[in-house]
Amino acid sequence: YLGLQTETIGRSVYFYESVSSTQKIAKEYAMNGANHGTLIVADEQTEGRGRMVRKWHSPKGTGIWASFILRPDIQLQHAPQLTLLTAVAVVLAIKDVTNIIPEIKWPNDILINGRKVCGILTELQAEEDRIQSVIIGIGINVNQSTENFSDDIQMIATSLKIELEQTVNRTEIIQKLCYYLEQLLNLYISEGFPPIKRLWETYAISIGKQITARTLKGTFEGLALGINDEGVLLLKQANGEIIEILSADIEIK
Ligand code: BTN
Repeated sequence: YLGLQTETIGRSVYFYESVSSTQKIAKEYAMNGANHGTLIVADEQTEGRGRMVRKWHSPKGTGIWASFILRPDIQLQHAPQLTLLTAVAVVLAIKDVTNIIPEIKWPNDILINGRKVCGILTELQAEEDRIQSVIIGIGINVNQSTENFSDDIQMIATSLKIELEQTVNRTEIIQKLCYYLEQLLNLYISEGFPPIKRLWETYAISIGKQITARTLKGTFEGLALGINDEGVLLLKQANGEIIEILSADIEIK
């Protein structure tokens, strides 16, 4: 492969053997003025974090545990669009390297054969309503074997190695990820969200299906109609009412 083909994303990289969480380190770098595109990668995380205050299992040497610092010139309410953009970048990177086409489960789980291979965690640092930085955390299960997952996790999680039946080069995935992040960000800045949304919809599995959405405000059921321009999920309930779901865990029926 060709090495890093970007101008901004991944041009500054900080690699750690072991950290608590790359999100935490990235926030510190961001506060100290790190550039747009700065990448923090770790071989192991001892306190990897997932969405909804969950833990993210990040064993040594097997996965990609990475956080990008972005400084996009966008409005605060558009920040969720970056999570969707990142999901597309992950899909394209995996597709290029492995020829496997993963699927996106709203908002940001990447699945292969119905099992989760990657999760994305977006955290914002804002002042008033101006974005200072967006920290995008990406966890990709790359070279775990089934034995590395506990029995209950095996049901819901997978790795690229399990799916491909061979070891995958983590550097190659990271380089492709940087490339697609930069390409998609450029597209987003020049043409706005519509082209990103179209790409996202190409790979999304939840749209047009009956789903259950578990949110902090309660559980909602209905037909997933699609996402709006803010990246919010539109759910049509049995009574015909359409509600907006900002953040949830969804189950597809
Ligand atoms: C999720 O699906 O719940 C999101 C998981 C995000 C995990 C990544 S790994 C790199 C970064 N550092 C963390 O502590 N979490 C994110």
